[in-house]
Amino acid sequence: MTRRLLLGAFLFHPGGSHVSGWRHETAEPHRHVDVDYYADFAETAERGVFDTIFLADGLYFWDRFPSGVDHYGQTRLEPLTLLSALAARTSRIGLAATVSTSYNEPYHVARALASLDHISQGRAAWNLVTSRYPEEARNFGGDAHLDHALRYERGAEFVALVQQLWDSWADDAILADQESGIFADPDKLHTPEHRGAHFAVRGPLNVSRPPQGYPVLFQAGGSDAGQELAAATADAVFARSLPLAEAQRFYAGLKARVVAHGRDADDLAILPQLRPVVAETTEEARTIAAGILSSTPDAIVVEDVAHSIGQALPDDPDAVIVVAPGAGTDSDIANESKSPNRRLARLQSGERLTARDLYAESFWESVSVGSAREIADDVQERFENGAADGFVVQALTQPQGFRDFVDLVVPELQRRGLTRTAYEESTLRDRLGLARPARRLPEPVLR
Ligand SMILES: Cc1cc2nc3c(=O)[nH]c(=O)nc-3n(C[C@H](O)[C@H](O)[C@H](O)COP(=O)(O)O)c2cc1C
Repeated sequence: MTRRLLLGAFLFHPGGSHVSGWRHETAEPHRHVDVDYYADFAETAERGVFDTIFLADGLYFWDRFPSGVDHYGQTRLEPLTLLSALAARTSRIGLAATVSTSYNEPYHVARALASLDHISQGRAAWNLVTSRYPEEARNFGGDAHLDHALRYERGAEFVALVQQLWDSWADDAILADQESGIFADPDKLHTPEHRGAHFAVRGPLNVSRPPQGYPVLFQAGGSDAGQELAAATADAVFARSLPLAEAQRFYAGLKARVVAHGRDADDLAILPQLRPVVAETTEEARTIAAGILSSTPDAIVVEDVAHSIGQALPDDPDAVIVVAPGAGTDSDIANESKSPNRRLARLQSGERLTARDLYAESFWESVSVGSAREIADDVQERFENGAADGFVVQALTQPQGFRDFVDLVVPELQRRGLTRTAYEESTLRDRLGLARPARRLPEPVLR
């Protein structure tokens, strides 16, 4: 079978994946809680024969810094609720919701995702995150964010338990036999009776087994613990975009972990971020990207860098940064993520850099700017040289930046035979070439 490049369409800030995307002249910032706005996004993705849409999420409002309120466009709809509506407005595309294992309960999550899988006839996916910010803890009765290691321990127990709940009912357990009056076959019901370190859940689930067996599982943490959890359980990983050689190392390392867990390397797809800015010519695309970068208010530039390096900074984005000893290690920042801190590493190498330099550097490093042919070349090179199995496309501006990708880059990828031109399979799992998981029951205890 020819290997096919997978495509996901990403949304976090509704105005686009750049924080100032909502300011672009083509943006529609007054529609961020309008279901039709998101339906248009999903329909565009379906027109481009994407495998899935992918809604990132967090359980907080980012107001740690004044710029979060003043300048970010962050009000948006809750993913599972929104995807249920979008299930009715689309027919083929996957529907991936980000759901945290740190601030939810397994029974709720198992139930909601099983419901979405039934509502969408097998198109649901779960982007499992352990969450990142102390702001989230404060919305759920805590003062501090759970410790990083504990979050992943809880995450591992959480996902195993959710899968047990999805296995409560055999596929043929519901008889609904009106004549005999037998609704369900009790021999085909398993009650998990789970008692673990983090959860005690009796079960069974009150939703029958999802059409996909288990909705498709994405994972997005980049740390050692994050990669281990993904290697053991996930169907796909959403990864940071990295320069080619680093992306190849990450890809090879994660595939090796998958094999070490007794799985096939192909059982886990690695999908880095792709942040395209496409235009007819390279020049034009660079001008559009530069315009988006320069629309970022100075307060965001300073506060974004201050946050990522874990140190307060002066208001002037052009002041040279002097890194405090121990920056990023003794604060909440170290507990937020243990993925590599690239900006801090640059500063610690001793270079004289300003917040504006660092912000611009990460911007240009993360975007893929050019004509459709140039972007397709980069995508193809990564796909064919051990750096990616596909991409999660994060247009910087919505809706136009994403429409441009679908209208200009997707046809180029299709012409090269890299992506499909029509949907064939009906469930997301089938489309990704993943087997439907058999129902797993604990071994009977022999007395
Ligand atoms: C590419 C990427 C995307 C992520 N998306 C989300 C998200 O949408 N919501 C969220 O709460 N956390 C998200 N995370 C954070 C992870 O859930 C995780 O909590 C965080 O990265 C810390 O774990 P780590 O040290 O393994 O990276 C993302 C992380 C990465 C690397």
